[in-house]
Amino acid sequence: MESNPAIQVEDLTKYYNDLLAVDHIHFEVNQGEIFGFLGPNGAGKTTTIRMLCGLITPTEGKAKVMGFDIRKETVAAKYKIGVVPEISNLYDELTSLQNLIFMGQLYGVPKDLRKKRAEELIHLFRLETKKNTPFSKLSKGLKRSLTIASALIHNPSLVFLDEPTSGLDVMSARSLRSLIRQLNEQGTTIFLTTHNIEEANQLCHRIAIIVKGRIIANDTPEELKKSAQGGFIVEIGVENPDPSNLLGLIKEIDGVNEVKRNQSRFILKFSGKPRWETLLPSLRQKGILVTSINTLQPTLEDAFVKITGLDKEIMMIDKEGKKG
Ligand SMILES: Nc1ncnc2c1ncn2[C@@H]1O[C@H](COP(=O)(O)OP(=O)(O)OP(=O)(O)O)[C@@H](O)[C@H]1O
Ligand SMILES: [Mg+2]
Repeated sequence: MESNPAIQVEDLTKYYNDLLAVDHIHFEVNQGEIFGFLGPNGAGKTTTIRMLCGLITPTEGKAKVMGFDIRKETVAAKYKIGVVPEISNLYDELTSLQNLIFMGQLYGVPKDLRKKRAEELIHLFRLETKKNTPFSKLSKGLKRSLTIASALIHNPSLVFLDEPTSGLDVMSARSLRSLIRQLNEQGTTIFLTTHNIEEANQLCHRIAIIVKGRIIANDTPEELKKSAQGGFIVEIGVENPDPSNLLGLIKEIDGVNEVKRNQSRFILKFSGKPRWETLLPSLRQKGILVTSINTLQPTLEDAFVKITGLDKEIMMIDKEGKKG
C-alpha cells in the first residue's frame, strides 16, 4: 500500500510582527509514527501546530497535512485531524458523555453514530465511572484524557497533542502516555510537542529538536543518542582492583583510549567499537579478573545538551516557571 506522508512541511515560517517565531522549518511525518517536537519555552512548538491545523496563516512556506494544503484546503484537512490544545476547549457544565457528543456534532459525525463513538471513547480512555460527571468536577489528569478523547470523536488519522502531559502528576502522565501509545498502535499518527526529554525518548519514533524557531536535529532517539557518543564506553568491575599498575595495564589494551577508576570499577573509553572477542582474554592475560561488564550509552539528555548547547534544566521549566 502506498503511504503518503501524514505531514509535509517546507520552509514554514511565522512572524508575529517583527518576532520570528518559526524560522523556515522543514520536516516530514510518516503515517503511523509518533513524531515529537522537543523544545524549550517559546521555541515555536505551538505556533507550528497552529499553522498546521489552519488556525493561523504562515508568513512563508507551505505544508500539507494528510495530503491537504494547509492554506487552501483547511476545511478538508479539518476532518482528517484532531487537535488537542494546551488549554482544554471542553465545556465545564457538560458531562464527559455530553462533551463528546457535542464535539461529534461539531465535527459532523452523523447523529446515529455520535453516541456509539462517544461510548467507545469513554471505554478506551477508561472513563466509565466519570461518564456522567461534569467536566469541571474531573481531576486535572482526567480532564486532559477527556480533551484528548474528544479530539478523536471523528476518528481522525492524525492527532496533534500540544504538551499532553505537562502539569500532570507522575501517575496521570504515565497513564496518558500509555493511552497515546495504544492509540498509535491502533493506527493513529501522532504529532506531539513536549519539553520533557524523557517523554520524547520513551514515546517518539522520531524527534525534531526545535530551538528559537529552528529545527536543529531530527532523527530517531537512538540516532540522536549515537550522535552524542564519542566512541564506546565500557565499564568493568574487577575482583582484584588493587595492583598499582592496573590503570596502566588496562590502557595497553587494543583500542582503549582512556581509563578512569571508580572504586572497584574501571571506565574504559574506546575510540571505536571494542573488539569484544579479544577484550576479556587480554584482560585475563594481564591477571585482571573481570566480575562485571557494562556498556554505557549516552542518554537523550546527553544528546540534547550536546546538540543544543543548552543546559538540560532549561527544559524542565514550564510556562509558570515551575519545574515540571
Ligand atoms: N499570538 C502571538 N503574538 C505574538 N507573539 C507570539 C504569539 N504567540 C506566540 N508568540 C511568541 O512566539 C514565540 C513562539 O511561541 P510558541 O507559543 O509557539 O512557543 P512554544 O514552543 O509553544 O512554547 P511553550 O513551551 O511555552 O508552549 C515566543 O517567543 C512567543 O512569545
Ligand atoms: Mg506551546
